[in-house]
Amino acid sequence: MKHQKLKDFPKDFFWGASTSAYQVEGAWNEDGKGVSVIDVANHVEGVADYKIASDHYHRYQEDIALFAEMGFKTYRFSIAWTRIYSNGDGEANQKGIEFYDRLINELVSHGIEPIVTMYHFDLPNSLQERGGWSNRKTVDAFEQYAKILFTHYGDRVKYWLTINEQNMIILHGSSIGTEATDLENPQKDLYQQNHHMLVAQAKAMALCHEMLPEAKIGPAPNVAPIYPATSKPEDILAADTYASIRNWLYLDVAVYGKYPAVAWSYLEEKGYTPTMEDGDMEILKQAKPDFIAFNYYTSQTVAESLGDERDYSHTGDQHETVGEPGFYRGSVNNNLQRTDFGWEIDPVGFRTVLRQVYDRYHLPLIVTENGLGAYDKLEENDTINDDYRIEFLRKHIEQIQLAITDGIEIFGYCPWSAIDLVSTHQGINKRYGFIYVNRDEFDLKDMRRIRKKSFYWYQDLIQKNSL
Ligand code: BG6
Repeated sequence: MKHQKLKDFPKDFFWGASTSAYQVEGAWNEDGKGVSVIDVANHVEGVADYKIASDHYHRYQEDIALFAEMGFKTYRFSIAWTRIYSNGDGEANQKGIEFYDRLINELVSHGIEPIVTMYHFDLPNSLQERGGWSNRKTVDAFEQYAKILFTHYGDRVKYWLTINEQNMIILHGSSIGTEATDLENPQKDLYQQNHHMLVAQAKAMALCHEMLPEAKIGPAPNVAPIYPATSKPEDILAADTYASIRNWLYLDVAVYGKYPAVAWSYLEEKGYTPTMEDGDMEILKQAKPDFIAFNYYTSQTVAESLGDERDYSHTGDQHETVGEPGFYRGSVNNNLQRTDFGWEIDPVGFRTVLRQVYDRYHLPLIVTENGLGAYDKLEENDTINDDYRIEFLRKHIEQIQLAITDGIEIFGYCPWSAIDLVSTHQGINKRYGFIYVNRDEFDLKDMRRIRKKSFYWYQDLIQKNSL
């Protein structure tokens, strides 16, 4: 649909950016922080681990001053569960609570609205040793953790996100530190973990509404439009199947409190249906999100299943295998260009998915991640000419404006990432930030912060509230 006239971005639009605790903070064992699954995971050889990351734990004031200089209206970050409860539950760690108090105060003092992700991949390892999300007791631990966050920060934090990319934790967990605990039947185990996370999320949403009536809370999955490889009806059906398994399973349960029919029949067919306790469906039904946050990087394309291993397709990122014999076959979309790291670039798919999510759930939307991982080069006079990032973001923001003109309710955009940080499995040299952090994979150099060209571009855009 080509509009003759575009609608403006709303006046109070939340322009900002995102990070996650383990990828940016460092200080992995300081001030009583416990060990998370990320800290003990086997790191990919040849890339940085998360011990120092971008050292944001010690430099948050300098970093937030830069965010304010860019004009951020909001900043989406995550709280490390292991700073609040070293062991995931039990006794709280006062120093961890105080760190986020200081960080939130710093944001508020700059007029930046904090958006807090409660859990972004870094499950406390002590909980993992007790079975992690396979153990129903982790639901209680999450509820206890949610309660302490709402108690301490609820006076200043109005926007909460429950679990970052729960769908990626279940579908591609091995590249982000999540493992099945039942090695005999790992997939069934993962869907049991998934069910426990959905119950934990529902309990946290209900608790948030009870404790903080003014606050808003929502899920934060990764959503991709799923294209059929051709207009062949069988390919279209396969795309619909995969969309239900990859996207809608997570959001339908969060919003409507029920598993979508197609994803559920997939779970039945595979023998992956989770064990539920009495009352689980009521818990899921009673909890209601106030908005949907989602991360968008790219679309995905699938075709009819051939029924064997030919169904598996590797995208540019070898960690992401798409395809499942009997259900759908992973496919490559030759209409799209790719990033340095092989991810397909699809701004138009962004508009499609904004429409799909809004039309399915009728809730306000906020984009909590979107961005370009690239090899940036520090040039003379401390310049980083990341025109490719500007181009990527500009094209995606154009699509947001088109979606707003389509009538979609979008209240914010927080690209990944506010500042350079360590990627999930490809190191620090896969950079996403507006601010360069002067370190390499293993040489920490001086870690100084340098404004990239995209920093000034985004600053200008925010100031004008327009492209
Ligand atoms: C999202 C995650 O999936 O993608 C982030 O929420 C992650 O934590 C981002 O960093 C980009 O992925 P990667 O693998 O390039 O770091």
